[in-house]
Amino acid sequence: MASVGPWTRQANRWFPRMRAWRRALYQEPELAYREVRTRRLILGALQSIGIRGHRIPGLNGVVATIGAGRPGPVVALRADMDALPIEEATGLAFRSLRRGKMHACGHDVHMACLLGAAAVLKERASSLGGPVRLVFQPAEEQGDRGGAAPMLEGGAFDSPEVDFVVGAHVEPSIPIGQIGWKVGPVMAAADHFVITVIGQGGHAAFPHRGPDAIVVAAEVVSGLQAIVSRARDPLEPVVVSVGSVHGGTSHNVLPDTVVLEGTVRTLQPTTRADMEARIRRRVRHITASLGASAEVEFRRGYPVTSNPPGAMKVVVGALQREFGSSRLLALERPMMGAEDFSRYLERVPGAFLFLGVGTGRTPSLHSARFAPPESILPVGAALLSSAAAGLQAA
Ligand code: NI
Repeated sequence: MASVGPWTRQANRWFPRMRAWRRALYQEPELAYREVRTRRLILGALQSIGIRGHRIPGLNGVVATIGAGRPGPVVALRADMDALPIEEATGLAFRSLRRGKMHACGHDVHMACLLGAAAVLKERASSLGGPVRLVFQPAEEQGDRGGAAPMLEGGAFDSPEVDFVVGAHVEPSIPIGQIGWKVGPVMAAADHFVITVIGQGGHAAFPHRGPDAIVVAAEVVSGLQAIVSRARDPLEPVVVSVGSVHGGTSHNVLPDTVVLEGTVRTLQPTTRADMEARIRRRVRHITASLGASAEVEFRRGYPVTSNPPGAMKVVVGALQREFGSSRLLALERPMMGAEDFSRYLERVPGAFLFLGVGTGRTPSLHSARFAPPESILPVGAALLSSAAAGLQAA
């Protein structure tokens, strides 16, 4: 790799330790809100480098502060902790020790990178431009009840109060060693809806005796797509997907109800609110026109993850100095996935970046074969530490 800055050189010396931390975390994958062994591993790793971590009460989240008491901006660096209910198929020698669970989203790598960043920042604690808060967050993979909000409620950004936040996610679609960045929306808002279509069940041979919930539900599924294709600006992305349809028990019995569940992805808060209103209205009109009715439940998930221009400019400048411009990749488009990091960016400015782990053979995130190259660990540590230093020097 071409240009290597001081943070990378320092992080490279920590590579064996980072790899050991990463493998230990990888072997003990735990699902959202159950990250007990993970928490202990992190507290132990922090202790081994002379940093005292604190558990957030009632959660498995861990926070620590390097350079506490120093004057200057407080920068939080965040890693997520949870794994997924996937049976591993990587063939790695250090495979998951927990059947049916796997770090298939790279959160083990995120934690090891943050521990590496902590180690290099600790070595330079006397010259830091302010305190750095380490934030290990549980339960990122939880949709409408992710761990970021309870971490904030539990004081993760308090005393001293955090001014900026930086995080990164491994990304197989970006070549290894490249860092993807984008100002404005980078990840979508994800909301979950549950629509109960209420008709009148009965014998399938006498459909005229009451509204048939199945036929009405089919109209609702089509009608939702027509919102996207006919009621929204085609230049502004919206996804509506119905992911589950449940109704009926027999081929010759019409059910009373059909339950549709799905997700809405948007990139602007106004679009998000508009989609909820349109979905409610469209469902009401379609069902009423067919003599049926419906109940619509709309559960707000993660908001849009949006990088403010000011902080992003500073972070990109710091990364260019550390890695060289050729390693930075300006992303043209956001990803339609969602991130709990959005909650932090709603609170303070900062940057959410993508750490390339693509080799042409790296499977996608959430794949049972996902295995990012470990050479990425010092890059991630240097990314986080140089971004924090850049924000403090600005
Ligand atoms: Ni993830």
